[in-house]
Amino acid sequence: MTQLAREVERDCAPAWQALLEHQAASKDSKLAELFANDAQRGDRFTVLAGDVYLDYSKNRINAQTVNLLLDLATQCHLTQHIDALFSGAKINFSEARTASHIALRASSADVLNVNGVNVVPMVHEVLEQMAIFSDRIRSGSWLGASGKVIRNVINVGIGGSDLGPKMAYEALKYYSQRDITVRFIANVDESEFEEATRDLNPEETLFIVCSKSFTTFETLTNAYLARAWLLSALNNDVASVLKSHFVAVSSNVAAVEKFGISMSNLFVIWDWVGGRYSMCSAVGLSTMIAIGPVNFRAMLDGFRLIDMHVKTTPMNRNLPVILGLIAVWNANFLDSKIVAVLPYEHYLAHFPAYLQQLTMESNGKHVNQAGESITVSSSPVYWGEPGTNCQHSFGQLLHQGTQIVPCDFIGFAQALFPKGHGHDILLANLFAQARALAFGRSKEQLIAQGCSPALAPQKVCEGNRPSNTLLVDQLTPSSLGQLVAVYEHSVFVQGVIWKIDSFDQWGVELGKDLAPPILADLIAKGKPKLDQDSSTNGLIHRMRRLLGR
Ligand code: F6P
Repeated sequence: MTQLAREVERDCAPAWQALLEHQAASKDSKLAELFANDAQRGDRFTVLAGDVYLDYSKNRINAQTVNLLLDLATQCHLTQHIDALFSGAKINFSEARTASHIALRASSADVLNVNGVNVVPMVHEVLEQMAIFSDRIRSGSWLGASGKVIRNVINVGIGGSDLGPKMAYEALKYYSQRDITVRFIANVDESEFEEATRDLNPEETLFIVCSKSFTTFETLTNAYLARAWLLSALNNDVASVLKSHFVAVSSNVAAVEKFGISMSNLFVIWDWVGGRYSMCSAVGLSTMIAIGPVNFRAMLDGFRLIDMHVKTTPMNRNLPVILGLIAVWNANFLDSKIVAVLPYEHYLAHFPAYLQQLTMESNGKHVNQAGESITVSSSPVYWGEPGTNCQHSFGQLLHQGTQIVPCDFIGFAQALFPKGHGHDILLANLFAQARALAFGRSKEQLIAQGCSPALAPQKVCEGNRPSNTLLVDQLTPSSLGQLVAVYEHSVFVQGVIWKIDSFDQWGVELGKDLAPPILADLIAKGKPKLDQDSSTNGLIHRMRRLLGR
């Protein structure tokens, strides 16, 4: 346990206690009353960072709640933790590593030391290498082994080596070069490989094998499948196929070499880049190929803008800090176990999936830095879908279900395709949803509007359901970077309050350890061992029978 963590343990309790008491005293207050009693509330509880405007007024909070949450942040030494994040301290203590993703978007004049070495120059060196390579693909000067221009780029990776680049590619498709097809293969399920490749010409296809560790079984299995797919279609030798059709993004140079990918086709990342914080690194190579180096750099600048905001803005005007503290309030004091992320933007369809790894792999933990069970809930479950589609699927539960689900609404003021009124209708619905959740519709209102008293209870929406609205100027590379950085830092803030290591993911390991002996039983030529539990043995047995093994 670090000295800082010990101090947090000692100092946090008073603010936590004060918040518990405050919650008990204010639990009956209603959002409708809070708004009625304060005409300025809709302005008061807002904060701006770059192009991101956060309206958090529709949360069940008042000025005292915010002050107490800020006290909690102070007593948890949040400022010192932010300093530690920016200074390259080993804040990922369970893996004895720094978490220095900030360096990935630093400007070339910045200095960020990791283990005594300023890593910013090497970051820029790789960015330059990526830019040269991206330009070669985009201009058509990179040729496949048979001499054809590469037109298809497939990223093979999973988790952070898939979700960030996939989300960014989809989000920034508007800015992409449309004669290049970019696809993603993550799952070891061969159906994904088949669907991603079936209509592509192997001669025109390049694979980016993206894996920080280069040991992830899904990625390596798919990389070998890609190799076989190319070799069976091309009349070229293995070496030239590997040289022209494969590049790697990894920190494991030896494993890349062993696979046969040439060192000149390797884009390095470093062990101080966590998978779910890696989209600004070479893991974003597919994004850069799609949108070009200039747009990619604009995205990095967006990230940096929020980094600087977090570092230099007082806590009470610090957007990610406020967002993180509100998340803690909802999770721990209103006991909300679920958060819905609802982007009212078609291009952000993959944003909830991306956030799921960022939030839940970071803060889905049960012990604190000392290895003791934490006594409060850590990360809620995040899920979501774009609006307005979400309104016609799970929206019903958000308005009338028995559990309260805080929502993050995300919208962009300016349309990318201002054709008709669609964008205004979209945003009107976003604002209406947040309003409906907050204020609901009472039985009295319904009856006054002519609803029969018998039907009214079915139609009542209780309201008083919390939400944040993040309104961004326009979806651009920069604003996407800002939005993602806002969430990264908000997740960090929550981890500090819960005193957990937000940068490890030990929970993922158990399943990885258990799969190989089961696989051995599934494919055993002779008698399988069947030394698992009776349920798993039964499933293995049934599957073998169905497959005639
Ligand atoms: O198993 C979880 C995880 O380690 C994630 O944290 C990571 O993003 C993903 O697997 C992929 O890892 P790699 O980039 O090493 O293949």
